Amino acid sequence: EKGGYDYFMLKEIAEQPKAVADTLLGRIDAAGLLTLDEVRIPVHELREIDKVVIVACGTAFHAGLIAKYAIEHWTRIPCEVELASEFRYRDPILGARSLVIAISQSGETMDTLMALRHAREQGSKVLAICNTNGSTIPRESDAVLYTHAGPEVAVASTKAFLTQLVACYLVALYLGQVRGTKWGDEIQAVIRDLSQISGEVERVLETMEPVRELARSVASKNTVLFLGRHVGYPVALEGALKLKELAYMHAEGFAAGELKHGPIALIEEGMPVVVVVPSPRGRSVLHDKIVSNIQEIRARGAMTIVIAEEGDETVVPYADHLIRIPATPTLLQPLVATVPLQVFACELATARGNEVDQPRNLAKSVTVE
Ligand code: M6R
Repeated sequence: EKGGYDYFMLKEIAEQPKAVADTLLGRIDAAGLLTLDEVRIPVHELREIDKVVIVACGTAFHAGLIAKYAIEHWTRIPCEVELASEFRYRDPILGARSLVIAISQSGETMDTLMALRHAREQGSKVLAICNTNGSTIPRESDAVLYTHAGPEVAVASTKAFLTQLVACYLVALYLGQVRGTKWGDEIQAVIRDLSQISGEVERVLETMEPVRELARSVASKNTVLFLGRHVGYPVALEGALKLKELAYMHAEGFAAGELKHGPIALIEEGMPVVVVVPSPRGRSVLHDKIVSNIQEIRARGAMTIVIAEEGDETVVPYADHLIRIPATPTLLQPLVATVPLQVFACELATARGNEVDQPRNLAKSVTVE
């Protein structure tokens, strides 16, 4: 059932192009407009929403963090993202015009379920983004947008994450579409880019051998740091979470702009630091700032592992290891930038002799608070 792969995780990483394509299937019409009929919240209500609140745990929370950038940019609706386990215990401000989005692969995560129940008690509408048909979270929500990743068996989430991102982009674009924003043309262009993205994920997967080699070469290190900015920041958090779960290594993700506020003190000779570089097009200021960060950490002895767009030559002099990803619109970059981090963590787990599909102390779905 592992389809010739040694681990479910490898199989699920390889299935990502299909999972992404399947999640888009039937949701973009011939005119390039989104048709999210499943979102059974009436359009007039969607137009009234004054706040989006995303609740989720673990990897799904990272998808939510990325969604915030997309939702606020394309819809201009304020969006908060919160760990489901923290959310209801702080008496959050919710009302009938708040849209709460609960993201969960399993649909059974107790923390997320309790958060959505709390939101509904406050009169908010809840939209679930879920991978498991008929599970508790979608059953208790007002509407559901299913991700079509297929069953995910490995404890470490991979294909579910990419499809959660796709679903989040669809919701953001759809909200933009029904409300009409000044980004109309951009929304159309992004829908086109999104429909091409599965091919880009495929291309990334074809170039992963150097990433596996690199993972084996750092298997005896104690710490790996991950840096990113903008949507690259949650990608860094996700890269670090994968490493904790699978390699049992100390791994931390930081917003690169925070380096000088503390984390740079951690840098030691030879410490691997993975840096997710934003596109030099689009938000180029951020790109240039991160290139300076790479120089700074390298000057302090870090082994720099740089994930950068094809054609971005500015990073070359400062990268001890360079991982190329295809050029994408800024907001979509996580769909390609996360893949090398999954491969990296999986290979490190193998190199360290860890159980890949069933990491110690973890369960696939966490049904207790
Ligand atoms: O089923 P869910 O998406 O609600 O699960 C949430 C987290 O427990 C899950 O993403 C966890 O962090 C994964 N093991 C990460 O790889």
